Amino acid sequence: MFYYLIFKFIEFTVYTDSYSTRAKYSTEECERYKKIEKDYGRSVVTLSRVLIVYWSKFGNTKAVAEAIAKGIKAAKKVEVVVRNVKEIKPEEALDYDTLIIGSPNQGGGPVGDIKNFLKKLEKLDLKGKTGAVFDTHARNDLKAVQKMEKQIREKIPGLKLVAPGLAAKIEGFLKGPLVEGELAKAEEFGKSISTKI
Ligand SMILES: Cc1cc2nc3c(=O)[nH]c(=O)nc-3n(C[C@H](O)[C@H](O)[C@H](O)COP(=O)(O)O)c2cc1C
Repeated sequence: MFYYLIFKFIEFTVYTDSYSTRAKYSTEECERYKKIEKDYGRSVVTLSRVLIVYWSKFGNTKAVAEAIAKGIKAAKKVEVVVRNVKEIKPEEALDYDTLIIGSPNQGGGPVGDIKNFLKKLEKLDLKGKTGAVFDTHARNDLKAVQKMEKQIREKIPGLKLVAPGLAAKIEGFLKGPLVEGELAKAEEFGKSISTKI
C-alpha cells in the first residue's frame, strides 16, 4: 500500500496536465487536445466539435466542405474537422456534436458512398446532435440535398437538421468549377450553422 501510494504520487506529479490524468487519452490525443486548447483558449472537454463529411470526384464538393468549415470557424470557437467519407468510419460520428454531410448530385441523388454512410448512421444513437447537408450540382435540381434531408428526417431522427440544405451550382456538367459566389454562400451557410449549434 505504501509503495502504491508513492507510485500514485509520482504518477500524479509527472502527468500534471489535465488530459493525461483526467481522461487517460493517448499521447497523440493529449498533444492534439493541448494544441486545440492553446489555439481556442478552451478545453476540448467543453469545446463543441463539428464533423464535415464529403465525397468529391473533381474537388468542388470538397471545396464547399472547406468553405463551410471556414465560415463556422470564423464565427465561433469550435473544432471543425473535414473528412472524406472514404477515410472515416461512421462510428467516428459519435465523437462530434454536429454532423454536416455533403455529396455531388449524381443521377438525382447523393453518391453511393454518402448513401451508405447515412445508412450506417441510422444504426447509431445520434440523439442530441445537430446537422445539415449540402450538395454540388450541375442542373437546377436540389434532389441530392432533398434526398439526404428526407433520409435524415425519416431514419435518423436523433440528428436534428438546423438549417435548410445548401445546394451549390457548378459550371458545365461535370468538373466545374463552382459558379462564382458559391463558395461565399458556403461560408455564410457555415456562419448560419454556427449560430444554431
Ligand atoms: C455520373 C454522374 C451523374 C451526374 N448526374 C447529375 C444530375 O443528375 N444532376 C446534376 O445536377 N448534376 C449531375 N452530375 C454533375 C455532378 O453533380 C458534378 O460532377 C459534381 O457536382 C462535381 O462535384 P465534385 O467536383 O465534388 O466531384 C453528374 C455527374 C456525374 C459524374
